[in-house]
Amino acid sequence: FIPPASGGAGGGATAKDELGNDVSLAKFLENRNAGDRTLVQGLKGDPTYIVVENKEAIKDYGINAICTHLGCVVPWNVAENKFKCPCHGSQYDETGKVVRGPAPLSLALAHASSADDKIVLSPWTETDFRTGDAPWWA
Ligand code: FES
Repeated sequence: FIPPASGGAGGGATAKDELGNDVSLAKFLENRNAGDRTLVQGLKGDPTYIVVENKEAIKDYGINAICTHLGCVVPWNVAENKFKCPCHGSQYDETGKVVRGPAPLSLALAHASSADDKIVLSPWTETDFRTGDAPWWA
């Protein structure tokens, strides 16, 4: 048995909005611009940023918004092109790679894809492309 590469199976989850509804990819992209980072409820309900690639597509990774220091949700700062944690000042670059402590690790990744106009997140178990290391969260 070979599991489907993407979709709802294999540990994946449909991204939900703040009301718990499935996020429609078409609607999501309608009012957004390249580079936007928007929170959805992702795997295990974790707040996860979906990154807009362009008017037709999202990036193939989502960024878990939970700070690796003590777990605050980290907002995206458009002006500085960084994620900046309001709790103790940790900073992460636009891909979620840690660039300033006290956070010890980069933000976790998930695979992002779409199926039937839904945004689907699935576990990222491969090498972290930002650091070249094994994923600390897997
Ligand atoms: Fe983010 Fe402490 S929880 S810096």
